[in-house]
Amino acid sequence: MSQSSLDYLTVSLGEKLKLQYYMKAEDIILGLGENQRGINKRGGIYESYCTDEPLHTPGKKALYGAHNFILVDGPERFGIFIDFPGRVSFDVGFTHKDMLEITINGSDADIYMIKDKGLRNITRHFLSSIGQAYAPPKWAFGYQQSRWGYETALDVEKIANSFIENDIPCDSIYLDIDYMKDFKDFTVDEERFPNFGEFVQKMKAKGFRLVPIIDAGVKIEKDYDVYEEGIEKGYFCKDEKGEPFVAAVWPGKVHFPDFLNEDVQRWFGLKYKTLIDCGIEGFWNDMNEPAIFYSEKRLDQAIQVAKQSENENLDIYAFFKLKDVFTNLSNSPEDYGSFYHNVNGENIKHDKLHNLYGFYMTKAAAEGFMEIKPNERFLLFSRASYIGMHRYSGIWTGDNNSWWEHLLLNIKMMPSINMCGFLYSGADTGGFGGDANGQLLIRWMQLSLFTPLFRNHTAIGHRMQEPFAFEEETTSIIRDIIKLRYALFPYIYSEYMKALHGNDVYFSILSFEYDDLMSRRVENQLLVGDSLMICPIYEENATGRYVWLPEDMLLWKHRGDSQGNYSIVGKGHMYLEAGLEEIPIFIRKNKMLILGKSARNVDALVGDELSVIAFVDSKATYRYYDDDGRSLEYQKGLYSEILIEIQKNEDDFEIAVKYSRSEKVKKISFEIFDSNGNITRKTILCK
Ligand code: GLC
Repeated sequence: MSQSSLDYLTVSLGEKLKLQYYMKAEDIILGLGENQRGINKRGGIYESYCTDEPLHTPGKKALYGAHNFILVDGPERFGIFIDFPGRVSFDVGFTHKDMLEITINGSDADIYMIKDKGLRNITRHFLSSIGQAYAPPKWAFGYQQSRWGYETALDVEKIANSFIENDIPCDSIYLDIDYMKDFKDFTVDEERFPNFGEFVQKMKAKGFRLVPIIDAGVKIEKDYDVYEEGIEKGYFCKDEKGEPFVAAVWPGKVHFPDFLNEDVQRWFGLKYKTLIDCGIEGFWNDMNEPAIFYSEKRLDQAIQVAKQSENENLDIYAFFKLKDVFTNLSNSPEDYGSFYHNVNGENIKHDKLHNLYGFYMTKAAAEGFMEIKPNERFLLFSRASYIGMHRYSGIWTGDNNSWWEHLLLNIKMMPSINMCGFLYSGADTGGFGGDANGQLLIRWMQLSLFTPLFRNHTAIGHRMQEPFAFEEETTSIIRDIIKLRYALFPYIYSEYMKALHGNDVYFSILSFEYDDLMSRRVENQLLVGDSLMICPIYEENATGRYVWLPEDMLLWKHRGDSQGNYSIVGKGHMYLEAGLEEIPIFIRKNKMLILGKSARNVDALVGDELSVIAFVDSKATYRYYDDDGRSLEYQKGLYSEILIEIQKNEDDFEIAVKYSRSEKVKKISFEIFDSNGNITRKTILCK
């Protein structure tokens, strides 16, 4: 092993590459995307190895994404991006408290070091080098309802009707594996979902789009076209003997499409057409780490071990050894090291490029959509991911639990995920595993109301988690939260698309904007876009929390019944009271929030009247962005903008509004607060 250095880093070369950096006491280590623990990653050890990890307890090192971008914030500020598709580990002061050690499981990696002034600039530099983020259609910014366990078309329709009856806005309902025939991709169970195309249209007429799941594994079943074609064309990953590798997931035994191969990508991508032809406009790609329940070979071995134990008197060691044989069957490194991809004619062992599998499945889908319906946007998000996949889709954070700890984890993950490029993201609101109570769902909704992907999803066998599955008081609070999401649509969409165009983040930590010491430490408050700071409540039975204000801000406590109240809160620490029905939103100084009128779904939003809540001490400027929300024309610069300026004069505010290509907006009403909390109301009619 030899050593060299790359700026501040010591690099050891050998079979594995090692980078070492001595962290200063004040260094904060950011990044690493979808991961456990804090926003400051110091103290932990993390592994980039896409993993099906349904129990995200704090000791777990790897989740579903492999996001190798890390940012050191201290006297030296720099970012490091490790472009390597195999296993990479980040020991951030876990083994030795001051040592950041990155171990790359191979010698052929591209390592980038990014230096610039300020955290946001470094991040933007990185983001501009990995390409523009994916834009979902506008409807994908609406509220979405999901559950593994809507077993029939009737179940789905009942859910839709309940949204209508309860006057709760919603844009889409998800179809989990229940809709498939025997868990086969691109099939529909005709008995449980008869006349699927008609059903899709019927649901659209009611105002709901359906979003089906697609899994990575293809069921081994004679006469199943996807299986037969894959075999005939040699499109599945092979084992050591050159036979299609057999693993098992939901349908039992499956083969894995070799997504690393471009022909396979195109073939699989075009398979989505069956469902697109039925009117489907969005999908979620799942189990694409790929998840393996067991492989044929290792299950046989385990059964042999079990047989040998039959009639034995198993002591503590023998019993746990036997138990482990079965527990360790799933997602085993041994299996990942026993199948191969064909990359440009060369056979490459899966574990060398494991982290690219979900990436290429998702790229395949996105490119398929572009071929099937050019110039149309699709909703697409994936469970497994690698940096760069944000150009094709979003991600969700996988199988969390109905735990308050996971609500906090969701807060902490969002800025890190954004730093790695994934703007369209969110967690399973309310928690996937376990049973949520109404209070947890409400508090989680108060966070998710700001996440671009706003989906409530839960697992079969657990308590129902739809907004109307609780007592009326809870339903009513959730109704108000969801309605607020639709009212905030102009701001959320604007900020998302501006982040996309500007290679920027949508969620950020306070230190992206403020350079005081406290702002560097705060881990439970987020900036949302350019104007807002949010401080979600994440503890059971809490009716408030402490908040750090890096400057004076306007606090809007939204309440469904009264539109809430406003107050100017001063810089410093404060205890924020927030009852279950109150949503505190902080508007930064010299910034404004743009709102519209809520509606039953995104298609029904009119968008001709905007209202602005502003806190102006000297001058505030806002760029409101809009586009057709359906096509890819925004990539050619076809979007509209309204530039709003509010200038504080001696005893009045002067408003200037400049349009570019915007015909929709007819009226803008302003509520402008000065630093004493005095309010000025004005309305501008647009030509
Ligand atoms: C996986 C997914 C989850 C889904 C389930 C059944 O666990 O992460 O979201 O509901 O599979 O398809």
